[in-house]
Amino acid sequence: MRIDIITVQPELLESPFRHSILQRAQDKGLLEVVVNDLRDFGLGRHKSVDDYQFGGGAGMVMMMEPLVNCVEKLRSERTYDEVIFLTPDANHFEQGLANQLSLRENLLLICGHYKGVDERLREHFVTMEVSIGDFVLSGGELAAAVVVDAIGRLIPGVLGDETSALFDSFQDGLLAPPVYTRPAEYRGWKVPEILLSGNFTLIEEWRMEQALQRTKERRPDLLKKLGE
Ligand code: 6GU
Repeated sequence: MRIDIITVQPELLESPFRHSILQRAQDKGLLEVVVNDLRDFGLGRHKSVDDYQFGGGAGMVMMMEPLVNCVEKLRSERTYDEVIFLTPDANHFEQGLANQLSLRENLLLICGHYKGVDERLREHFVTMEVSIGDFVLSGGELAAAVVVDAIGRLIPGVLGDETSALFDSFQDGLLAPPVYTRPAEYRGWKVPEILLSGNFTLIEEWRMEQALQRTKERRPDLLKKLGE
């Protein structure tokens, strides 16, 4: 999979993909992340990418021309399955969407900044919009990093059996059960006996119970979704 990101702050996206799982995905040739600096498509001597909004009001708006020139250059080189705009005024990004997108070939992510982008870009070039939650970030870059991480680790072949995404919170619609490692007793705090029993049938049963209980307590809305 190739993921292109269009941004005015490429530095923000330098390190997130240089570690552990995402780096391994790239080393294995399963994922390529390309950060495109919108400034390269800026207008005039100052390489402007934003302008005042029509109708007045505080905050600059990202202009059509640099964005469209950048999108069209990339689109002339390959076909994108989705052009995704990161913005707080969109539906929330969820595991189900991450699963779907992990099977695509080419994705193009556009990070919003300032007051937002000219609405015509969203109407005529963007095919999907996502928010990562009900809070406002100063730009779409950190949201893009979140989305790329969530998708990248799901690309077939990226995770081994041991770290299989099948056991993640949310993958089966439930929160994950608690986990423990050595020592079995620390400052008098003991690991649940059953995990030391060696009885894997009982251990699996216990984990399922714990996952259900945890979900009931913390995210009852997820249980309701499962029932639907
Ligand atoms: Cl995708 N962008 C920005 N700027 N803020 C956000 C967001 C995205 N998702 C939640 N807050």
